[in-house]
Amino acid sequence: MKLLKRIFGICDTPQPADPQAWSVKNGSVRIVLSRLPELKQPGSGVRLEGKGLDPRLLVFHGDDGKYHAIANRCSHMGRRIDVLAGSNTIACCSVSRSTFTYDGQPVGGAAKQPVRTYPVGLDDESLTIVLTT
Ligand code: FES
Repeated sequence: MKLLKRIFGICDTPQPADPQAWSVKNGSVRIVLSRLPELKQPGSGVRLEGKGLDPRLLVFHGDDGKYHAIANRCSHMGRRIDVLAGSNTIACCSVSRSTFTYDGQPVGGAAKQPVRTYPVGLDDESLTIVLTT
């Protein structure tokens, strides 16, 4: 089953169960953390897609305890990326399984180019991801 998922490029990371947990406005994404329990644990992530968002994003709570946002298109062939809990890395869901650091640098697999990352601001209740920098 795992191999089939890789062949078809089906990632493990879910979209938010609560579609109202995030919004896009004026070149920024805002996430209300209380509505997104999927991001609570280090090593967890969600993929944000739709709502006019370009590029789609992988937003994750890293093993470093920080929140990160990265364009969710592997720089090899554009497939989605998953968080690898406990490894301080993220990895493409494809067979080639390119692996990247949290700042988007390739460290293994077929991808040789970085993936774009975005700054994430954190206040008491929300994350703000600026897409226009
Ligand atoms: S698309 Fe990611 S390794 Fe090929």
